[in-house]
Amino acid sequence: MNRNLSLRHLIEPEDLTIQEINDLIELGKKIHSSPENYSHVCSGKILATLFYEPSTRTKFSFETAMLRLGGNILGFSDANTSSVSKGESIADTIRVMSAYSHIAVMRHPKEGAPKLASLYSEIPIINAGDGGHQHPTQTLTDLLTISLYKGSIQNQVVAFCGDLKFGRTIHSLIRTLTRYNTKKFILISPKELTLPQALKNQLAKKYSVELLEVRTIEEVIQEIDVLYMTRIQKERFFNEADYTRLKNSFVLSQDKLNNAKKDMIIMHPLPRVNEISYEVDQDSRAVYFQQAKLGVYIRMALITKLLGVNLPC
Ligand code: CP
Repeated sequence: MNRNLSLRHLIEPEDLTIQEINDLIELGKKIHSSPENYSHVCSGKILATLFYEPSTRTKFSFETAMLRLGGNILGFSDANTSSVSKGESIADTIRVMSAYSHIAVMRHPKEGAPKLASLYSEIPIINAGDGGHQHPTQTLTDLLTISLYKGSIQNQVVAFCGDLKFGRTIHSLIRTLTRYNTKKFILISPKELTLPQALKNQLAKKYSVELLEVRTIEEVIQEIDVLYMTRIQKERFFNEADYTRLKNSFVLSQDKLNNAKKDMIIMHPLPRVNEISYEVDQDSRAVYFQQAKLGVYIRMALITKLLGVNLPC
């Protein structure tokens, strides 16, 4: 078991105070505007990426983040190329990786796997997505994006659309936004893919948030400040027929934006399947590719903070 009580992990957004999140966002902005000032701050440090599930953005943005900080990287993107394929446990894998690297990022299909790893780790563990549970660094990316494009995270009308049942990016973001005095949440999903009741109860009990549940984008589009689209999570379905029936529940096309606010922003954690038409990419309100880019800067900020390296003034 880890005996270093000062060791910090990021397993869920609640591991960070709002002040710490705000500090990370400010540092992410600074790195974004002057990345050259940070190009050596992690010299001699090694980041391990342990991906038991596929990824494009999270894995590569962490890797480029560490490389841009002057550090090095190692890891796997297919657990079958490691001794996991011989039956090695998460506990043993992380004990060994603690000796080979200074910080580790883990994605796993099972909820709680990064938490388990953190209990045996001698280095900081960052949850890069565990099943349908949490994705805290996507939340940090999303908050930096909202802060930059809307000027403030507070007092926005935020609509989540798509697979609210299995979408871990939504589960992490909605819990965090409730800590920021969000004006109103609008939940747009098929009835089979609504936000889990336990999470709704938790939000209602802890925070007095306004939650409106609807079945179409069109009926609420005019009041939205931030529209957060998500794909239907094929890999979490138990049967193909249900996925096929629900996969095209929502397609955001240009005509659906006719009544939207001019300064609304359209976000998506990506990957996109077909829930946003390609024509929408040209709309100035579509910020999802910029969002993916901002993920690099907030992850650079996070790595420096968890490693406790010296930063330029
Ligand atoms: N947003 C996100 O987690 O993307 P990847 O699955 O490509 O990492």
